[in-house]
Amino acid sequence: MDRLKHRVARLSDCHNVADFRALAKRRLPFPVFHYIDGGGDDELTKDRNTAAFADVDLVPDVLVNVETVDPSVTVLGKTTRLPLMLSPTALQRLFHWQGERAVGAAADKFGLWFGVSSLGSVGIEEIGAKFAGPKLLQYYYHKDRGLNAALLDMAREAKFDAVALTVDTITSGNRERCKRTGFTSPPRFTPASALSYAAKPRWALDYLFREKFSLPNLEKHVAAGSDVAMSIQAYFSEMLDQTMDWAAAEKLRRDWGGKFALKGVMSVGDARRAADMGADAIFISNHGGRQLDGARAPFDQLAEIVDAVGDRIEVILDGGVRRGTHVLKALAMGATAVSGGRLYLYALAAAGQQGVERALGILEAEIVRDMKLMGVTRVDQLTRERLRRR
Ligand code: FNR
Ligand code: LAC
Repeated sequence: MDRLKHRVARLSDCHNVADFRALAKRRLPFPVFHYIDGGGDDELTKDRNTAAFADVDLVPDVLVNVETVDPSVTVLGKTTRLPLMLSPTALQRLFHWQGERAVGAAADKFGLWFGVSSLGSVGIEEIGAKFAGPKLLQYYYHKDRGLNAALLDMAREAKFDAVALTVDTITSGNRERCKRTGFTSPPRFTPASALSYAAKPRWALDYLFREKFSLPNLEKHVAAGSDVAMSIQAYFSEMLDQTMDWAAAEKLRRDWGGKFALKGVMSVGDARRAADMGADAIFISNHGGRQLDGARAPFDQLAEIVDAVGDRIEVILDGGVRRGTHVLKALAMGATAVSGGRLYLYALAAAGQQGVERALGILEAEIVRDMKLMGVTRVDQLTRERLRRR
């Protein structure tokens, strides 16, 4: 099919998530771009996460008055303007110097959940003080019990609205792109990689002369929070506690005492256990294909999970979402909401807060347009009857 060959060289050339990915690739040192873009092993799962949506078609109704549509949903106790959550992603000030400050501001502007990683490059306290919208702390369960307790205390003091325990990173996925590029956090400038950083002067000058990169939530407790360059693989294998089990998750939920989710659930059995333990939501997720390659795509697995527990727990589809139609298909399949990382990360890397706001504006326009073309005015009208598997 002849598609218009177009060049993406500036923010105004970006009209969809793929354009932001192209601009991010132009502007980032390649080790940083490939850390964002990459997945585990052969990246089969990462690719399938998005491709899965193409195997299901939407069946629209027509002659419906759609002058006014309401794309809002209520998830984890908060009503948000769109059925879209910003997934927690680490190290954001490595992608753009504004980092989480840009993403938080954009989340507030669009009235969306802001997922904040334990490995954030702006501290929980600052985020709690700066941003008024719903905030979720993504929780990594470390060997260091002092750090584990400190993360909850910081989230409580910063009045975060939910905690999501990530359960699909008991060890790191095989990130071969990062092995080849030597990506570490913070970046280690080796003779081989120094050129890739120097070749992106805007990024390099920002990195060298603006606020020093750090991981504020960790630095009081572990070396990884300072300038000890560490690969993500090393962080997972050396820092995270591989004894983590359902008892630990149940204790964390009790200790937190607020809205609680598990992020990275994929099996019906685990979904049932999450509901039994009193979790408020599950993120059906394979970590954006960055962990177990060969794991099923969340959209492929969604119906099975919704049928099993959709009446007991909120089900958030996480991963592979790049279009408004992906959001509508997931909602029609039974998701309470969807969540995405790269859908805003490429835009952050490409153009900071302006980029993220443009990306969210485009996704909002797509969701509203697609609802109108589907002949629905509210999200709850999106049901499985409006889908057909090819
Ligand atoms: C992530 N993700 C992630 N998840 C998590 O629980 N804690 C984290 O610190 C991070 N960090 C992170 C960094 C980067 C660069 C990416 C791309 C992803 C996973 C993230 O929350 C989400 O599950 C996936 O990004 C969803 O897939 P998509 O939307 O990126 O396709
Ligand atoms: C990643 C970790 C930080 O996927 O969650 O890179």
